[in-house]
Amino acid sequence: MEKLVIEGGKPLSGTIRIQGAKNAALPILAASVLTGGSVTVENVPDLLDIRVMLDILTALGSKTELSGHQVRLDMSGLNSSHIPEELMKQMRSSIFLMGPLLARFGSVTVYQPGGCAIGERKINLHLTGLEALGARIEEKGSTIVCRADKLVGTDIVLDFPSVGATENIMMAAAAAEGRTTIHNAAREPEIQDLQHFLNAMGARIYGAGTNTITVDGVREFHPCRYRIIPDRIAAGTVIVAAAATRGNVTLENVNPQHLTSLVHVLRRAGVQIVSSGDIMNVQCHSRPKRVERIVTSPYPSFPTDMQSLLMVFLSLTDGLSIIKETVFEGRFKHVEELSRMGADIRVDLNAALIKGVPRLYGATVEATDLRAGAALVIAGLAAHGTTVVEQIHHIDRGYERIEEMLAKLGAKIVRKASGGGSI
Ligand code: EPZ
Repeated sequence: MEKLVIEGGKPLSGTIRIQGAKNAALPILAASVLTGGSVTVENVPDLLDIRVMLDILTALGSKTELSGHQVRLDMSGLNSSHIPEELMKQMRSSIFLMGPLLARFGSVTVYQPGGCAIGERKINLHLTGLEALGARIEEKGSTIVCRADKLVGTDIVLDFPSVGATENIMMAAAAAEGRTTIHNAAREPEIQDLQHFLNAMGARIYGAGTNTITVDGVREFHPCRYRIIPDRIAAGTVIVAAAATRGNVTLENVNPQHLTSLVHVLRRAGVQIVSSGDIMNVQCHSRPKRVERIVTSPYPSFPTDMQSLLMVFLSLTDGLSIIKETVFEGRFKHVEELSRMGADIRVDLNAALIKGVPRLYGATVEATDLRAGAALVIAGLAAHGTTVVEQIHHIDRGYERIEEMLAKLGAKIVRKASGGGSI
């Protein structure tokens, strides 16, 4: 196991290029199953989750190659739709393969992905959506077998705008007979990226980014080359790190339109943020003001993935801020760790009351999940003294060598083997 050792108190400064979006790349790699040919995807982040997705596609018979940030896939040899259980356990997002594998093979076997630190992560909306398209689903223990002689387009209303369910249904409906309309669809930019990718392969999908998506099924999908959008959460992580350390950072390869809710909150706190094209500059020179109340909810509202990161920033403002988490039921695991660094945060059901403190202090803390881990790194950058973040494999699932990215901005941060020695 590895850890990050951080000497805090140094404002970040400099310029950094933001990685491609993990949460766009994963469904897009899954969707490539629909074509029998080859697909090239650019700007793919080199992350643990991406490598697991490629391992699964290889196990199913495709040829995959990751070089730099380019993925080349040859789907002609795909010969199985039974996702290996041990790989499914490594990454719950493999559930995105259900829709496209069902569409291509008429059957798919997956395993309950199970919950994680942030919540139960149910998949009922995925399953009922596929059933509406004509699939028969059989659950035996943790095994889920899904069969469909034919997928037929229909109207589907999601009880909740689930990102994954919207994506799974889009991919299955893309090959169904006739029209599917998804109501109360998720509106995230990653959904729009998936629509653009599927249409580049010959699908006929309209409306991604709104809460109603229309899919006219097609029979054939052709090879294509596609470039993934920038990762708005990786960008948001750098933005908050710059603000929390009172730094001056320029980000390249961002889409400011995907960051409006975060930028709005930080500007209200007094952070200076300007953008032009795909460049954004973030400066914070004085102690920011508290932000009275933030509620996480589906895009375009404040993203749940930025909740833990914003909490670190608010811990270092003047006054009392409240964050309400409405998307995941267990997404406050970072509070206990932050409190060990001197933060003053009280959790009441799904609300966190954050009282600004003069400073945070370095401590040895543990990452419990991807974004909680990223928040602890930001806290270490802003804190006085040395912080050690353990269990950093969680962080590596979503950030390309986070220590290299931050060191480019002047952070004093190194990766070490847990228990001493350096990597
Ligand atoms: C995606 O997860 C992202 N992951 C998450 O990012 C992100 O936090 C989440 O969307 C919300 O924006 C990927 O895209 C790989 P949901 P997903 O389905 O699709 C409930 C990160 O940090 N729900 O929108 O799993 C569910 O329990 C990760 O990069 C059901 O009840 O999110 C949760 O409370 C973390 N039934 C809520 O909806 C279902 O069938 C949101 O889940 C599906 C979901």
